[in-house]
Amino acid sequence: MHHKIAPSLLSADFLNLQADIEMVNNSEADWFHCDVMDGTFVPNISFGFPIIKQISKMAKKPLDVHLMIVNPDQYIPVVKDAGAYMMNVHYEACVHLHRTIAAIHDAGMKAAVTLNPHTPVCLLEDILQDLDMVLLMSVNPGFGGQKFIERTLDKVSCLKDMIVRRGLHTLIEVDGGVNLETGKRLVDAGADVLVAGNAVFADANPTEMIHKLKSL
Ligand code: DX5
Ligand code: ZN
Repeated sequence: MHHKIAPSLLSADFLNLQADIEMVNNSEADWFHCDVMDGTFVPNISFGFPIIKQISKMAKKPLDVHLMIVNPDQYIPVVKDAGAYMMNVHYEACVHLHRTIAAIHDAGMKAAVTLNPHTPVCLLEDILQDLDMVLLMSVNPGFGGQKFIERTLDKVSCLKDMIVRRGLHTLIEVDGGVNLETGKRLVDAGADVLVAGNAVFADANPTEMIHKLKSL
């Protein structure tokens, strides 16, 4: 299967979101990646559910919603209502992760667990079979445009091994500092979905950059 590209709207032009959504609609991108930050789980605040609901009305591709917030459980119906296809919750923010994942599925969404750079993939041993996707952070979450953490490549290989050994089809997504160079190495290591914010939206030709990332 060819890998997917999920441009992160965190780096889009918030004063002209319509133009950036249309650019992604007409590109080879597969998903929209939407970053929600609460100023508590991460030291930054981005945008919330009313904005995502507006985005979903115009987006022609599935919304991959990455929640960098405490207590994501309490927002499951709101995230569904906002139009999310995939709901990503952080491992570090969920005390009862098994219950959270079941509730996301019951609400009719795909479920993903996100790991911060310091959280080992082996902690997923007893939940992996219930997940549609694992999102590995390759920067400390909170900001776009940060430098890729090299150690993520080993985590991708290790996680791929866990997935294959169990005969699962769980997707591996990577988020943070993805560009043509790190993206190529991630795909070779087994990543199925690349999130890219700065690499896409700071480029002079975002559509062409998405094409290049898709062609890796
Ligand atoms: C970081 C966010 C990312 C961010 C990635 O906290 O989760 O999705 O937008 O941005 P780049 O690709 O610029 O590192
Ligand atoms: Zn993200």
